[in-house]
Amino acid sequence: MSPLIVLLATTAGLLAVAAWWFRPILESVAADLQAMPPRRRAVTPGLADPDCGIGATLMAAAAQGTATAAKPAGGTAGGSAPAPKRPKRKKPTGPDRRSFLRTGIFLGTGGVLGAFGAASIGFLWPRLGAGAFGAAIDLGPEADVLASIDDGGGRFEFPSGRLYMVRYDAAKDPDGQYADITGDASVMAIYQKCVHLGCRVPWCDSSRWFECPCHGSRYNRWGEYEFGPAPRGLDRFPVTLENGNVFVDTATVITGPARTAGVLGEPAAGPNCN
Ligand code: FES
Repeated sequence: MSPLIVLLATTAGLLAVAAWWFRPILESVAADLQAMPPRRRAVTPGLADPDCGIGATLMAAAAQGTATAAKPAGGTAGGSAPAPKRPKRKKPTGPDRRSFLRTGIFLGTGGVLGAFGAASIGFLWPRLGAGAFGAAIDLGPEADVLASIDDGGGRFEFPSGRLYMVRYDAAKDPDGQYADITGDASVMAIYQKCVHLGCRVPWCDSSRWFECPCHGSRYNRWGEYEFGPAPRGLDRFPVTLENGNVFVDTATVITGPARTAGVLGEPAAGPNCN
């Protein structure tokens, strides 16, 4: 499945979860707002603002009530005056400002959380495209890989697979210690990650060894332990030959040989780099 489809599905899922999560809150807010009586401004006739339309209406009504109460006939002087009629408020249509803002905040928060989750998953998702670390990598014809190793002075670096390719000579490995990880190929794939604390181990041209700059571990051309705090030789990946092409399975890391392996038995070709 394409990572893009996975991301889109994840985002849609997160938004659906956010909507489901906030639904009771939104419903209760909507119910509260519906049950809430319309806001009224407390107006006393004495304090009413005569410039305001409603104030003027109320003051006129109050004055009329006082006049009616003062009449000697046709009513009781101390009786209650008929309540002034208030102008009817227009019922607002559609969502009010408060519920609109709350809904907007909830949906915005859900959207941001969904986008953040999708971005995090996208960042952490392993890139399993062809030729990348974590997948089976086709390096092409074995003759081309061998030529690249010779051109590189003894190793061919494939950065996106985080590996080195080196020549493997079965005659130098009579016990077949590495035969099962090289298949029938004349090459071996070595993981670039130092087995001490994980630094990337570069190649040293002068010694023709792999030498870690972090704490000084050194490994020979076959990635076997030679010196330093590393607990073993470099890890490696299995190699197979298919129709003459070299395939390296970088999803399978094979633990490197013990410190004492030393199968290659080659001293450093020159001064060490670290
Ligand atoms: S990480 Fe390589 S020697 Fe420590």
